[in-house]
Amino acid sequence: MSNNTAVIVLAAGLGTRMKSARPKVMHTLGGRPLINHVMSIIDDFNPVRTVVVVGAEMPDVAKAIAPVQTAVQMDRLGTGNAAMAARKEIEGDNGDRFDGLVLIVFGDTPLLSAATLERMQNSSDGGASLVVLGFRTPQPDAYGRLVVDADGGLDRIVEAKDATPQELAIDLCNSGVMAVPGKHLFALLDKIGNDNAKGEYYLTDIVALAREAGLKCEIVEGDESELLGINTRADLAQAEAIIQDRWREKALLDGVTLIDPETVWFSFDTKIGSDTVIEPNVFFGPGVTIGDGVRIKSFSHIEGAEIGDSAEIGPFARLRPGTVLGQKSRIGNFVETKNATLGDGAKAGHLSYLGDATIGEQTNIGAGTITCNYDGVAKHMTVIGSDVFIGSSTILVAPVSVGDGAFVAAASAITQNVDPGSLAIGRARQVTKPERGHQLKEKLRQNKA
Ligand code: UD1
Ligand code: MG
Repeated sequence: MSNNTAVIVLAAGLGTRMKSARPKVMHTLGGRPLINHVMSIIDDFNPVRTVVVVGAEMPDVAKAIAPVQTAVQMDRLGTGNAAMAARKEIEGDNGDRFDGLVLIVFGDTPLLSAATLERMQNSSDGGASLVVLGFRTPQPDAYGRLVVDADGGLDRIVEAKDATPQELAIDLCNSGVMAVPGKHLFALLDKIGNDNAKGEYYLTDIVALAREAGLKCEIVEGDESELLGINTRADLAQAEAIIQDRWREKALLDGVTLIDPETVWFSFDTKIGSDTVIEPNVFFGPGVTIGDGVRIKSFSHIEGAEIGDSAEIGPFARLRPGTVLGQKSRIGNFVETKNATLGDGAKAGHLSYLGDATIGEQTNIGAGTITCNYDGVAKHMTVIGSDVFIGSSTILVAPVSVGDGAFVAAASAITQNVDPGSLAIGRARQVTKPERGHQLKEKLRQNKA
């Protein structure tokens, strides 16, 4: 629990280096927008107040973080100007100074942890000094550099574009995260100018201004893998690799076998029970929950699915949103499910599409079964009971139902409901003409000659 600390998240940047129509903070890591990763860290930190600074034309961002309070930065004049945009939300209409500590966090720094924010809060002398979160990296590139004074305190921050060669050689970088005493923050932001390489109001300039005003400025050092700022798609891929590794390690610690961890891709909310085995090359989109003792075979793509204990999936299975699989159920190769519930022990072993369907316990779906769920305008349900046998290559034209214990002959087109216990045969009777095979071949050969 954090005491009297407010957080400002800067998320109004256009992210031009992403070369994208989407705002930068809406790009995803593990299936979730960057801004939502940041918000979840802040939730764990639990501040008294949170304000997210967004652009006026960014309804998606405001929607993604609702109901968290937003402030609008009208023009992109830099990080200092963006922090200023949150003034009213932090201080209130009367312009009362905010007595606590204000943490400024960037929406493009999603690997941070609540523990690091707590460390910064603890280093601020009860909200009296300014603290900057720094990190060391062998490749400081475009990061701002932290210039340290003779006593090891923070003297100022210099942006890479404005730095001298000597300053560029500094390997201690600015992560962007800053803790500033609330009663000084906006007065300091007010003094920032834009006489620099980018012509922007840099948030980083408040360090030198704070020193001039006699405020103590300090550095808390964090880890590079937590403080990566995402500016380009290459940064995004690097962050994805880091977060996937974290999740793989967690799955292994939680008792999940990953035969080749580096080839398994998780989403932020993937939940897997113990003694489940994930074979190489499996992808989990958002919304997947898997029970205990499940086996997911190679090359399966799974999203929005709930999988019961001891089920067996794949290889090459595609489970789409709304899939619910019972215990000991089985989905084999080249089977696609969508909005489909399979009861305990139900099986669809090969080459099927099961969409908008419920299938009862112990039912067997033969190879090549297709639910025709869409008539070009609307979707319709197929309801299959328990202990049903659906023969191979059956077409079920929805809406249609097949009762408990029924048997559908292979290659049927089922267009009418089948009562429990019945046998349905929905195909033309076979005709066999003795010797006509030979005769037909002979005729075809003569035609060709
Ligand atoms: C910034 C820092 C740099 C630091 C790096 C860490 C400044 C001047 N530079 O550089 O010292 O090493 O982050 O990753 O602060 N934003 C707005 N409005 C704006 C501009 C930016 O809301 O007008 C937001 C962006 O959405 C982003 C964050 O502020 O979430 C940082 O902006 P960005 O342009 O990515 O700054 P960097 O160049 O990475
Ligand atoms: Mg950045």
